[in-house]
Amino acid sequence: MKTMLNVALPKGRLGEKVYNMFEKAGFECPSIKENNRKLIFENEQVGVRYFWVKPSDVAIYVERGAADIGVAGKDILLEYEPDIYELLDLDIGKCSMAVASKKEFRDNPQKTLRVATKFSNIAQQYYMSKGRDIDIIHLNGSIEIAPILDLSDVIVDIVETGTTLKENNLDVFETIVDISARLIANKSSYKFKSEQINKIINEIKTQLEA
Ligand code: PRP
Repeated sequence: MKTMLNVALPKGRLGEKVYNMFEKAGFECPSIKENNRKLIFENEQVGVRYFWVKPSDVAIYVERGAADIGVAGKDILLEYEPDIYELLDLDIGKCSMAVASKKEFRDNPQKTLRVATKFSNIAQQYYMSKGRDIDIIHLNGSIEIAPILDLSDVIVDIVETGTTLKENNLDVFETIVDISARLIANKSSYKFKSEQINKIINEIKTQLEA
């Protein structure tokens, strides 16, 4: 029997794109396209098992070895700093991590800056590198509301199309870093399943160059 390669895919549209890349790379698993709510799919012939997980959880599965490889956003990797190998930039799921505020906001360096965010670690590190004193307000979603209700001065959040900011009358104040989806691997899996993992890396690299 073939050694199975366990792959954590981010549930959602990005994950479907990722699956298509893996399928083209020779790791097809037709049952994944069935319309049901199963979360685990496998193809023993090819030696692959996929599971759909919450995008922000992919790195946890990979770090702990429940998955050998997976695909996670650079935002999650920067925020949680999991102990994994980052193998490849997949050039999809592109967006940026930005500081945004109300249009009329002017930073007063004399005052502690109130920052609302889901990405406390990224925000902390960014402002520390600038030597700026901040107060983090950790939220779990709908971050854009914070400056409107004067809960914060600015937000640190993902900007993709910019629609959410625009519709809430907020502007990008500074861009922190560009984000995209990354292929990641568990450190020991990368040693012990190197043949399969390198095949995927090479096949996907070829797709990206085409
Ligand atoms: C993300 C992000 C922004 C929005 C940006 O939110 O936090 O709110 O998408 O996209 P846009 O620039 O294309 O409008 P998500 O849908 O993940 O929800 P949440 O942060 O409120 O949980």
